[in-house]
Amino acid sequence: MSKLITIERHILEQQKNFPEATGELTDLLSDVAFAAKLVRREVVRAGLVDILGFAGSTNVQGEEVKKLDLFANDKIINAIGQHGRFAIMGSEENEEIITPPNNENGSYALLFDPLDGSSNIDVNVSVGTIFSIYKIKNSDPRKADISDCLQKGSEQVAAGYVIYGSSVVMVYTTGHGVHGFTYDPTIGEFLLSHENIVTPKHGKYYSINEGSYAQFNDTTKKYLDYIKEEDSATGRPYSTRYIGSLVADFHRNLLTGGVFVYPPTTKHPNGKLRLMYEGNPLAYICEQAGGRATDGRRRILDIDPSELHQRTPLYIGSEDDVRVAEEFEQGIR
Ligand code: AHG
Ligand code: MN
Ligand code: MN
Repeated sequence: MSKLITIERHILEQQKNFPEATGELTDLLSDVAFAAKLVRREVVRAGLVDILGFAGSTNVQGEEVKKLDLFANDKIINAIGQHGRFAIMGSEENEEIITPPNNENGSYALLFDPLDGSSNIDVNVSVGTIFSIYKIKNSDPRKADISDCLQKGSEQVAAGYVIYGSSVVMVYTTGHGVHGFTYDPTIGEFLLSHENIVTPKHGKYYSINEGSYAQFNDTTKKYLDYIKEEDSATGRPYSTRYIGSLVADFHRNLLTGGVFVYPPTTKHPNGKLRLMYEGNPLAYICEQAGGRATDGRRRILDIDPSELHQRTPLYIGSEDDVRVAEEFEQGIR
């Protein structure tokens, strides 16, 4: 019988790795876990309450917003913002940064994608929430601004995601390994289920939207042709797995090995995925689990951000597989 360790207890244990910590990080991550429970409650019964379908608006990304996107966004902002531990927040669903009320004691910035995989909400396919946490640089939390959000991914103090699937799993890192917790609805707790996740150095899955083949650069097309050739010595052809929810594709590859690629396309020359609340948090987790994450050339965590919603190409997963994809992207192969 595995030990019953709640995520709050685990975070407290992790806290001992931060001698200078004041317990705040524990509270922050517990706040995120609480917000995840609220979002989960609606996601698992989405078909029964009026939060399916479109909200009738478009977000800063120019994408149709689903009701559950907004519901999750509101829940996270209110459930987490109420404690004032975050001085500032940035959300995929809000064009501008969010300043929580009574943030005068907040030391951290929260960047998040409240509901990842929106296109899958109404058809009962796994979706997720992704979050990234930084210490603010501003000495006065009341003056916290966009510059406290636009920090390199290497500056993150914590990152994680929740995947609302056949079971609900929350995965996080504070720089001391990657740990997963499965929600037990009978007690309303996230319990430790995947301690110290280490991702395989190479896998047999590749994840890319082949439907965009005509929009890909020739380098990407060459990579795709390569990965599908018969060659048992290099484990090819790989199997394709593409769910359309980044969190779900990432989580599978993290556990089984594999590579996820969202390359530049004619529609999205800088890639579709967003650096601050998709690329950076997942790159931090991936590297902590022994994997690799780049934009095809640069380490994701080294990218110096200039805009809250800036996009990046994303090559992420098992180190060997990401390197092969990069060599094609760089024209080396
Ligand atoms: P979001 O729902 O937060 O906008 O994210 C959707 C993203 C990501 O989850 C997924 O991997 C990707 O969009 C799928 O894009 P395509 O449909 O272009 O493949
Ligand atoms: Mn997303
Ligand atoms: Mn989203």
